[in-house]
This record gives sequence, structure tokens and C-alpha cells, in this order.
Amino acid sequence: MFDKEELEKIKEGTKKYDEKVQKSLQKFPERKGEFKTGGGLPLERLYTPAHLEGRSYVEDLGFPGEYPYTRGVQPTMYRGRFWTMRQYAGFATAAESNARYRYLLEQGQTGLSVAFDLPTQIGYDSDHPMAQGEVGKVGVAIDSLADMEVLFDGIPLDKVSTSMTINAPASVLLSMYIAVGEKQGVSADKLSGTIQNDILKEYIARGTYIFPPKPSMRLITDIFEFCSTHVPKWNTISISGYHIREAGATAVQEVAFTLADGLAYVEAAVSKGLDPNVFGRRLSFFFNAHNDFIEEIAKFRAARRLWAKLMKERFGVTDPKALMLRFHTQTAGSTLTAQQPENNIVRVAIQALAAVLGGTQSLHTNSFDEALALPTEKSVSIALRTQQIIAYESGVANTVDPLAGSYAIESLTNEIERQALEYINKIDEMGGMLRAIENGYVQQQIQDAAYNYQKAVESGEAVVVGVNRFTVDEQGEKRELLKVDPKVGENQVKALQEMKSRRDGEAVRRALEVVRETARDESRNLMPAIIEAVKVYATEGEICGVLREEFGEYQENIVL
Ligand code: 3HC
Repeated sequence: MFDKEELEKIKEGTKKYDEKVQKSLQKFPERKGEFKTGGGLPLERLYTPAHLEGRSYVEDLGFPGEYPYTRGVQPTMYRGRFWTMRQYAGFATAAESNARYRYLLEQGQTGLSVAFDLPTQIGYDSDHPMAQGEVGKVGVAIDSLADMEVLFDGIPLDKVSTSMTINAPASVLLSMYIAVGEKQGVSADKLSGTIQNDILKEYIARGTYIFPPKPSMRLITDIFEFCSTHVPKWNTISISGYHIREAGATAVQEVAFTLADGLAYVEAAVSKGLDPNVFGRRLSFFFNAHNDFIEEIAKFRAARRLWAKLMKERFGVTDPKALMLRFHTQTAGSTLTAQQPENNIVRVAIQALAAVLGGTQSLHTNSFDEALALPTEKSVSIALRTQQIIAYESGVANTVDPLAGSYAIESLTNEIERQALEYINKIDEMGGMLRAIENGYVQQQIQDAAYNYQKAVESGEAVVVGVNRFTVDEQGEKRELLKVDPKVGENQVKALQEMKSRRDGEAVRRALEVVRETARDESRNLMPAIIEAVKVYATEGEICGVLREEFGEYQENIVL
């Protein structure tokens, strides 16, 4: 990027600078012996063009909207369209969550994101013994199409894109969404949104899995195949690094393990005979925006460039959209503190800014009180306003990829890409991501990183403002927190029983039998059978119950 003569002058200048530094250190030592990023990468005191010697602008950066997309996936990025402001939301019953969605849309949010309660996430109806005490707690309780109709009541599905954070039962909830669209007169080819549908990170870090890997990969790639023809605007998976990071992974590990999961899905789909130039267009990703501002910006740019290269070099992908890493970002829940919670507004703002400067397509900003409870309307509004202030007031959205060319950002982008690829090659040598998960390698790497960070916090080396420094006595502080009606479980079970008494039981029985027969025949796509079952109001628990009987359940390999 710089000519030889100029580089020589820079190196000369650096020598003089280093001499000055040595003199200064005698009088005024630096705060630490060595400086690292939050993810543990060594940080130079000063970056200059010499750190980019031999690198090529055209190959490393190129232009936004063009391979390798380092500077962004769209030619005009946010000058054309802001990122989607998409707050993850959902609690209690479908009616209460519907009210929150309408509130958020009125406040200017531009996409929906459904949080389901745990029973829904692991395929149990609200009346199942395993659901006791969890109905409507961490998300909305959805048992059948009847609940989904309420959830989206008054929300036109041809006008909004909806993300659903659902994995093992993804095919069931997607089928319900398609059925709600039909009831609204919106055909499936007009629906846009995303289903998380990423089971590997559930095995690694989140835990809401149901079935063993093989049938899980079949369900996932059935969705790829079905949506390619029937729901062409639907993003069929959100390959997630968010939870891997939340479990304690470093920035490099977040990129490496997420992209390695992505490779496993592409391989599974290719071996099913699907074309990566087709399904690849609708793969999407989901990353964390953590505290270290410049490392996070570099992380997003490295991930985009590395994914484009992997899809091109390993799968021969040529379709421009299938080479793009399009992603959603959520600010890091694990950095929210229960102490001095208003400080979280600042953390979230910095993290959100990093996501925008890193080129995110969609963004969720955490609410300041989420270390204490689900967000109130007040706290979720501040979170949304944070995005709107960045979008409309900060100016960073008015030119594309403004931090490109920063010696520090580009050096870190190169280093994160290099180290992430090292991990991916190591995982390849183990036989791929499924093997690396089954032998506990991935989980061990994350646990080690989490342990090191926790030690740093406990020693005070890693400062957490309000927690291990600058603390205050908050005894007796009163805060307005969201309360979920304790009777939500009881009410939901009653509604479920009433729904069952109204539906055609024989039609449900027949539809569930078709699901079972289809599950037994790997050559058949399960989506059509599941769609028919949800349309006659078979419940999520009933459908997942049949699949549990046919596929069995995943047994976790505990890493001690
Ligand atoms: N010029 C031209 N076109 C542009 C443009 C520009 N500058 N900017 C955007 N567009 C187009 C896009 O191409 C797209 O059109 P297309 O669909 O025909 O390609 C349209 O405008 C919408 O833009 P995006 O697709 O970029 O934005 P979306 O918001 O629709 O999609 C996504 C973003 C990342 C691809 C999608 O997958 C998404 O929304 N993901 C969200 C996932 C999510 O919310 N997950 C939450 C998980 S919560 C969780 O798990 C954590 C919990 O467990 C704690």
C-alpha cells in the first residue's frame, strides 16, 4: 500500500520515536507492562503503515459491495439504508408480546425479533411437566398456530421482517409463521425474516438442543431446500457467534467457531445435493458486540473477508450474494452489570457503535436493566434511542466504512483473520466441527478463555467499572423492573386446553402420522408435513414429541 522509499522513511521515523519513548518511560512508565485487546491479542503502542507492509488495498479491502466485502456488503451501506433496528423481545403470553412489538414499531424500530420461552425453545408445550415455572419467563409462550396468530395480530407480515430465535424446533415455528402469513393473505414468497436454526452452537454454548446431530442437520438443510423454492426472501439460518462469545470465547474464537459452524452447514447442504450458489444467498450470521471497541470493529471486517474467501475457495461459490457475510449483532449481555446499571447505557452505546462501524445489517441494543430483569418499556426505549442517535446524529452512517485504512484496525483485521483461519484448519484436521464438538475441543477452548478472563476480573487486572472498581453502596436502591404475571403459566395452559377442545382431533392425529412417516424417510423434506400439521393446530409439543420418538435426543458430551 506504500512505496519502498516511504516505508524506509517511516521505519527511520519509528526508530527515532522508539528512542523518545524509552526516554519518556524513565520518567513516566506506562500503565501496564504489556497491552492486549479484550480478546487477548497483543496491542502495539503505535501502528504505522509499516505494519501493513506487503499488504494490498485491492486484495485486503477492495470496495464495499464487492468481494471480499471487507468494507461492507452493500455499495452504499447506510447511505442507502440504515441497519435494521431489531430489538429481541418477547415475554409472557402472545398478547403481551404483541403489545410490546407494536410499541417498539411505533417507537421506530424497523424489524421484529421474537424471543421464545424455554419450553418453546426445547419443544415442550406449556402443559408439559418440563415446562413448569418456565412458561412465558425468558420469552413468549407459543404452543400452537393459535398463539402465533395472536403474536402477529395487526402486524402485516408483508411489511415487516421477523427474526425468530428458535433452533431445534425451527421448522415448526417457521411453519406456523408461514401459516399466519397465509391467514393474513400474505403468500410465503412475500415473507421476509430469519430463523436462527443453528444447532451446532446449541451443542457448543447455549443448550437448547433436542435431537442428535444427524437428524438436526437434516431438519436444518430441509429448511434450506424448502425456502429456496417456497420462501425465497427468508434467511434460513443465523449462524451464531453471539452465544459462543457470551460463553467466554475470545473475539478470534467467536469468528473461528462461528465460521467453522457455517462450513459444517454448507458441507451438509452440499452433500444433500443443494447448490451453495443458491442456499448460500440466504445464510446469515449473528455476532456479539463486546467491549473492546477497535478489536470488535476489526473482528466484523475479518469475519466478512474470511467467509467470502472460504465460500469461494472451498466451495467454488461465484454468486456475489452467496459470498456475502450478512449479519445481525447484539451488544454483549455478559458485560451488563447489576451494579450501577445506568453505566450499561454507556457500554451498550460503545458496543453498538462498534457494530455499526463494523458494518452490521441488523442490530439489537441491550437494555440497561437486563442484568436484573427483562427490559421495561422505559429501558428498551433508551436502548432503541441509542441506535437512533448513532444513526441520525453521530454522522458515522454518512460515509461507507469510515475507519478503513486505520493502521490499527487493518492490522487487527489481518491478525484476527489469520488466527481464526488457524483454528479452522485445526478443526479441519480433527475431521470437522461436529468431531471437534463431540471430542469437546471447542468447549474446552471456550472454557479456558472464560476462566482466564474471570481470573483477570478477580485480580483487578480487568477493570469492570462499578463492580471491581469505582463501586458505591447501592443498598436499598429502588428500581422499576418488569414483572411477569406469576399466573402466566396457568393462563397459558388453560388457553391451550381450550384450543385443543376446539380443534379437529382426528385431523391432528392424521397430520402427526404423516410427520412420523416423513421423518422415517430421509429422502423426503419434512417442511410440507409440518406445515400441514400446524395448520390443523397440532401443537409444537406434539410435533416435537413425534420427532423425539423418531430421532431420539442428543446426549451432551460433558467437558470436565
Ligand atoms: N443498498 C441496497 N440494498 C440494500 C442496502 C443498500 N445500502 N441495505 C440493505 N439493502 C437491502 C438488502 O439487500 C435486503 O434486500 P434482500 O433481502 O432482497 O437482499 C433488504 O435491503 C434488507 O436488508 P438486510 O437484509 O441487510 O437487513 P435485514 O434486517 O432484513 O436482514 C440479516 C439482516 C442479518 C440478513 C437477517 O438475517 C436478520 O435480520 N437477522 C436477525 C437475527 C436476529 O435478530 N437474531 C436475534 C437473536 S437473539 C439471540 O439469540 C440472543 C439471545 O439468545 C440472548
